[in-house]
Order: sequence, then C-alpha cells, then structure tokens
Amino acid sequence: MPPGKPSGQAASGDSAVNIRPASADDCAAIAEMIRELAVFEKLEHECQATPEALRATLFADPPQARALIAERNGEQGPEPVGFALYFFSYSTFLAKAGVYLEDLFVREPYRRQGVGSALLKAVAQRAVEMGAGRLEWAVLDWNQNAIDLYRAVGAEPLDGWTTMRLAGDALPAFASR
Ligand code: ACO
Repeated sequence: MPPGKPSGQAASGDSAVNIRPASADDCAAIAEMIRELAVFEKLEHECQATPEALRATLFADPPQARALIAERNGEQGPEPVGFALYFFSYSTFLAKAGVYLEDLFVREPYRRQGVGSALLKAVAQRAVEMGAGRLEWAVLDWNQNAIDLYRAVGAEPLDGWTTMRLAGDALPAFASR
C-alpha cells in the first residue's frame, strides 16, 4: 500500500483515528513514541532510537521493518496518537513467512478507544495478505492491560519458551572469537 493511504479506522472520542503506513516524515514522531513506550516499559536506559536511525532502517531499500501510524485530526492538523512496527520472520515448521510485531503503542489520552486493537488488526491484515503463517510478539509479563488486549483478539502465550538475546559487546565478541 502506498505511504499515506488510510488503511483502517478506530473511534477516538469525537474524532476518528486513521491508520496508515508511515512515511519518512513520521520518523521524529515514531522516535518520540518509541521513547514513550520505553518509559512505560521501564526500559528507557535501553532506548537508542533516533529519527535518523529510523529513517535509515525503515526507509532503506529494502526496508528493515515497517511502521503504521494511528493519526487523529487535531486542531493543529493530523496528530500521531499511536504506532505499530513490524518486520518479516520465517517459520521452518510451517515453511512460511511470518510477521513479528516489535512495538504496539497508543498515547495515554487515546487509550481504551479501540486504537490499539485497530493497529493490531491492520498488522494482522498485512500478515494475512502476504500469506504469513504466524503473527508473533513479546510482551512483558506484568503488562496485564496489553495481555488482556492480546487475549481478546485470540492470541495465546507461548509456554515453555525462553527468549534469548546476544547484544551489546557480547555480539561482536562472540562473532570474532
Ligand atoms: N485495562 C483493562 N483492559 C485493557 C486496558 C486497560 N487499561 N487497555 C486495553 N485493555 C484490553 C481490553 O480488553 C480492551 O477492550 P475493552 O476496552 O473493550 O475492554 C482491549 O484491550 C482493547 O483495547 P483498545 O482500546 O483497543 O487498546 P488501546 O488503544 O488502549 O491500546 C495498548 C492498548 C497498545 C496496550 C495501550 O494501552 C498502550 O499503548 N499501552 C502502553 C504500551 C504497551 O503496553 N504496549 C504494548 C507492549 S507489547 C508490544 O509492543 C508488542
């Protein structure tokens, strides 16, 4: 879908919220919302995202990940109220591509109005359109509101799996060992 074309709607107070693919001009707003999400998750110390780094990765050829913006028409014009960011994965068991949802975020004043569900549905629609076998993501175990949303759309927790990460100095150290 071309950037800018609305691809979903949610009710938000007295003003509709449109969901559309992000453009390079949205990178400053996405960086701000990523930081707000990091603060919410008590992980601000891990957040290094800048608008420039987002532009270089989300709008590379091919893009390393894709973002959707939820936008409301405010008094000053269109205002970003949330985003979803996802990339493609692969399942050997299914021998099919999948979609990994990295972030889902709605700014506090706009929560509980269907925006998060609409963003998640827009990502699910893209997964179905591309024939993906799975849509997966991770959520912190204390984030009960988000878990309630995920359960409500039919997602199940994956018991028995531990997420592993090789990052920081440990990644190049291992790669060059
Ligand atoms: N209390 C209880 N249930 C909740 C709450 C809440 N505060 N928020 C959402 N839910 C559940 C309910 O089942 C709700 O349905 P209902 O309103 O009919 O009862 C359902 O989720 C859908 O709610 P939405 O209005 O569609 O969700 P919202 O727009 O509020 O967005 C989100 C949910 C994204 C979790 C938002 O609250 C948020 O941004 N929170 C902070 C950041 C966050 O937790 N992001 C997800 C991290 S995991 C990841 O990024 C992959």
